[in-house]
Amino acid sequence: MSESIRKALISYEIKLPRKILFGIDSLGRLGSEARVLTEGRCALIVTDENIVRIGIARRVEDTLLDEGFKVEVFDKVEPEPSIDTAEAISKLVRSSKFDLVVGVGGGSVMDMAKIASIASTNLKPIRSYIGVNLVEKPGLPHILVPTTAGTGSEVTDIAVVTIPEDEIKSSMISPYLLPDVAIVDPSLTYTLPPSITASTGLDAISHALEALMSVNSNHITDIVALEALRLAYRYLPEAYRSSNPENRYYMSLAALLAGIALCNAGVCLGHALAYTFAVSYRVPHGVSCGLTLPYAFEYNSTNIGRKIPSIAKSLGIDVEGRSIEELSKSITDHLFELVETVGIPTKLREIGIDRNAIPTLASKLLSLERLLKRNPKAITINEALKIVESMW
Ligand SMILES: [Fe+2]
Repeated sequence: MSESIRKALISYEIKLPRKILFGIDSLGRLGSEARVLTEGRCALIVTDENIVRIGIARRVEDTLLDEGFKVEVFDKVEPEPSIDTAEAISKLVRSSKFDLVVGVGGGSVMDMAKIASIASTNLKPIRSYIGVNLVEKPGLPHILVPTTAGTGSEVTDIAVVTIPEDEIKSSMISPYLLPDVAIVDPSLTYTLPPSITASTGLDAISHALEALMSVNSNHITDIVALEALRLAYRYLPEAYRSSNPENRYYMSLAALLAGIALCNAGVCLGHALAYTFAVSYRVPHGVSCGLTLPYAFEYNSTNIGRKIPSIAKSLGIDVEGRSIEELSKSITDHLFELVETVGIPTKLREIGIDRNAIPTLASKLLSLERLLKRNPKAITINEALKIVESMW
């Protein structure tokens, strides 16, 4: 067997929730799924004030009440939740006897629901579980219900928390964070405003494209990520302009697939670049990832040549008779155009970042080793400076 064939025959594992329910009105099955998961009847719903205001939390609560559950609601999850919120949820879970956690909301809410689940049995401060595989035991059964089409948190083993004093986001990664059931009901996204549709949709596209670029990608994550990219690229501008059941359905599917790719291949340079400024300048996750993605692709494109034609095809680019370099340039242009079409900035100066901040952001980038280790192309400080300079 030749060296190149041997290298291609890689081994891998795929992590998934125990069950995924996908489809319009699949939320209606939440109560019966909850009943299967536990004989106990005390449920904690983790959500935010907006989900309560638009009545989705109430629908979840009613479904659980119909199945005989007693329900408590924690609705104080803020966007990009801090470690203090994670500790507050943990305190609540540890001081009451819950049998089940249901997270209903965007990525921030679902991440906090995962933390609520493991906090019930892992009793140290939450901060001590931040990192890879530091959670010691499985927690409460948990069901996750996304209300945006973007983060894919419903199918990942990751919970992200903001550490305000360090101006960074940190991840807790553990197989115990994967939910028992993910319920993806596209109808919950019908009323998302255009700005959230855009930012969360670009997050999904970042997950798909960065998973394709990741050195940890494999055959399955590539197939899933390419389909996620194709769907999101096709339907995001449409969903941004005007919501209809078809574009919401395919955006929810794209985000779900991209989440599976993210969980199993990981993200790399795009998210790393986003983390250099998102916390300090209070930029929402999806906006920061959308801004950085074209630059991350452009930088990495020379090292992922084999995948360029498939990525180009996913974006509807005609590949016939075109070189890898031409296709890479065309993909970069398509990405910039998409980000602009959905109203997200493509330059750091547009979001109030001063030129003087460039060296700080570049050195912060190099500190994000966990993400950069997965990047297909190494980065020196000079290259980091060049990328951040071009983003500015
Ligand atoms: Fe993300």
